[in-house]
Amino acid sequence: MNDWEELWNREIKLSRREKLGESTFWDQVVADGGTDNPQLAHLTEEQLHLIDAHSQSTILEVGPGAGRLTLPLAKLSAAILAVEPSQGMANELRRRLDAENASNVRIVVEPWQTYSSKLKNDSWDIVLASYSLFMVDVGPLLKEMSRVVRERVCLFVPAQKRMSPDLELAVTGENLSSPHPDSVIINKIVESQGYSPKTKTLERQREQSYESIEEALEQKARFHSCPQERLPHLREHLENTLVKEDGKLWERELRRSAFISWTP
Ligand SMILES: C[S@@+](CC[C@H](N)C(=O)[O-])C[C@H]1O[C@@H](n2cnc3c(N)ncnc32)[C@H](O)[C@@H]1O
Repeated sequence: MNDWEELWNREIKLSRREKLGESTFWDQVVADGGTDNPQLAHLTEEQLHLIDAHSQSTILEVGPGAGRLTLPLAKLSAAILAVEPSQGMANELRRRLDAENASNVRIVVEPWQTYSSKLKNDSWDIVLASYSLFMVDVGPLLKEMSRVVRERVCLFVPAQKRMSPDLELAVTGENLSSPHPDSVIINKIVESQGYSPKTKTLERQREQSYESIEEALEQKARFHSCPQERLPHLREHLENTLVKEDGKLWERELRRSAFISWTP
């Protein structure tokens, strides 16, 4: 494992994202009705443009979730294999595909870690992973993407830290994470595997409102796996940063992510 791969594992732990690799977390997101976000419509259009699939393309998608990209891509391409470990997400994806009579998508309910070895070399035109890379030991998983792809690998990853330094301090009591966002670390790992990835930055304005500080605290604490003893610090952080408007509490931020692509 090289230094960038080690840094990646460290960052996943420090940013408290290990649970995002567990299917029970995503099953719960579906159960809570959290699979629709109208704010992502513009981002979706931008992503589809960058993925640039055509009617003959075959696409392997790692972590499709409920199909924000899979549904439009099913109309634009020849065939899709969706590798999704969460049964809840897979059921929701199947329901949405059936509602649109999209019959060219096969769903496999399995994590990429165990499924990739079942695929032959150069078997899919495009390999896509959109905001689904937060597993530890990501190096071999990226290598597997390069192995099975014919044309190009397309990744979308955060290009900013998951927690600002202030938020990290509130949740963990320390500022231990590196200044490098996921996009930089993934780029370096792919380069270390002998490829020349191209990167493009995407920006979107994110806006979220909460009815009360308690609601904000509950959601943020869950999202960041905040330990019980740090809750008063997280609460104080939210009281200082959320903006009161129209009787609600608002969080507004510019979100940066990166499109990273390469041809093996
Ligand atoms: C944030 S959602 C992204 C959904 C969709 N790709 C999008 O961009 O809207 C992350 C998805 O990755 C999936 N995922 C998590 N770990 C995975 C793994 N090891 N292999 C494949 N998918 C995984 C989750 O189950 C979840 O559906």
